[in-house]
Amino acid sequence: MRVSPDRAELLALAVSIADEAGRMLVAKRPARPEVVETKSSPTDVVTALDRAAEELIRARIAAARPYDAVLGEEGGDTPGTGGARWVVDPIDGTVNFLYGLPDWAVSIGVEVDGEIVAGAVSVPRRGELYSASRGEGAWLGGERLRCNTGVALDRALVATGFGYDSGRRAVQAEVLAHVLPRVRDIRRGGSCAVDLCSVAAGRVDAYYERGTNYWDHAAAGLIATEAGARIGGLRGRPHGTDMVVCAAPGLFDRLHDLLVPLDPERDAPAVHE
Ligand code: IPD
Ligand code: CA
Ligand code: CA
Repeated sequence: MRVSPDRAELLALAVSIADEAGRMLVAKRPARPEVVETKSSPTDVVTALDRAAEELIRARIAAARPYDAVLGEEGGDTPGTGGARWVVDPIDGTVNFLYGLPDWAVSIGVEVDGEIVAGAVSVPRRGELYSASRGEGAWLGGERLRCNTGVALDRALVATGFGYDSGRRAVQAEVLAHVLPRVRDIRRGGSCAVDLCSVAAGRVDAYYERGTNYWDHAAAGLIATEAGARIGGLRGRPHGTDMVVCAAPGLFDRLHDLLVPLDPERDAPAVHE
């Protein structure tokens, strides 16, 4: 049954579920969370709370909109016949969560007809809730967000991240070695969703990363673009696992042109010591 997706309702639901899951994670995080599984590499970890948070999020979505589809990092793809698909990363920045660092987030994007129309990113250890609805702007709580504009590449504070595969990281390090001398500085925050929200909030000027998944950037990508940033891949392609570049339009072009000749979308063989 297709239940007509009202954007304001979808956004309100995404915000309230992200907020509740964030609070649950703060309340239940043990002093030393245990790794219960590793995924793509020994450093790609899952804690019991990644799973518990996704279960909570799925239960809340099912209660409010039982026919909708859900794509979650931990639970995979659940098809639906409702009007929306929920794209969920229950903890983006699990390594930060594991170590007790504050920059991790609950990320919930809502897709209608193949397009993200609403997104909520809760960063509970900072007491921050970012949200956006397509065409309606991006918000941090009640404050409207605008990304930084008019920043030259050599004055830009650029966030980036690294994958879990050692060969991919070797290329990412090589690319970074070319980027770092040409920008103000680099930040590696540890959460793609927080990095994109930081572009939206003007806390960094730009972000790029190879290898992120849809659930990492679904919600925060909308938040960044609704704050005036451009998000995309290389050579006119849409952003995705190959590459995400995000910045105000002028800086986007400069960073894009710096990255392209570095061929950053390749992976080297895994490093075995
Ligand atoms: C990771 C974070 C990290 C990024 C990785 C992601 P996870 O997500 O967003 O900042 O560099 O590419 O996989 O594993 O913490 O959900
Ligand atoms: Ca993630
Ligand atoms: Ca995750």
